[in-house]
Amino acid sequence: MGTLEEIRKRIRECDDQIVESLEKRMDCIQEIIQYKRENGLTILQPEQEKKQREALVKKLINHKFEEEILDIFTYIVKNSRKIQAKSLFSYNIMLIGFMGAGKSTVSDYLGHLLEMEEVDTDRLIVEKEGMSIPQIFEEYGEAYFRNCESNTLIELQKRNQLIVSCGGGIILRDENVRHMKKRGRIVLLTATPQTTLERVKDSTERPILNNNMNTQFIGELMEKRREKYLAAADIIIETDNKTIPQICEELVTKLTELE
Ligand code: S3P
Repeated sequence: MGTLEEIRKRIRECDDQIVESLEKRMDCIQEIIQYKRENGLTILQPEQEKKQREALVKKLINHKFEEEILDIFTYIVKNSRKIQAKSLFSYNIMLIGFMGAGKSTVSDYLGHLLEMEEVDTDRLIVEKEGMSIPQIFEEYGEAYFRNCESNTLIELQKRNQLIVSCGGGIILRDENVRHMKKRGRIVLLTATPQTTLERVKDSTERPILNNNMNTQFIGELMEKRREKYLAAADIIIETDNKTIPQICEELVTKLTELE
């Protein structure tokens, strides 16, 4: 055993090596993204991450620091996802679409895979106002709620690399679309009235649909908003009969093709 100073010196050397190795590993992550993009390959590959983890677990069985090393790797992988996201998107991903189009579900899945922060305009409004959406509609009316949406978007312009789920009616004001485009790309998710009804029928959180839970009302309102949705969108993704991973892969591919 060396003196305390000697041991500390060895620790510093280890740290230098760790930094160097991490840098190499992170460079590889960027290279992979570049390679996938240049060769038109699938960008999100959660199964690959799983395989790597399994290989690592196997290698560390009965290792004296098994638990600790696995814990560290959890963070390494988490940060790899962040690096991946940063090299893919320098902007906010704004999800728009009719109620039930799948904005929150897509946001959850993407947020996890890319380790990006997620926000939801409805949720921000509920927190700020201290009331539910139906309560806001009831007490102050729809126009007040729409003002809250505009103010929320102005606040979000200060931020970057977020996934933002927007309330279904946010595109009704042209100024909102301008706010969204300042730091974001707009992704329109679509679904047929039938699929939409299936997804929203058990919710009571959407005042516009309360007492109007039928495909006729949904179809008519969609039609009224159609032009606004289409005009706002940078990319469009149909969600009927697709799985969430399929939708997210399509979203990432189409967004990266915009560059
Ligand atoms: C609305 C959609 C809702 C919510 C509010 C009004 C709309 O959000 O903002 O009930 O006008 O389409 P979701 O699309 O997230 O359900």
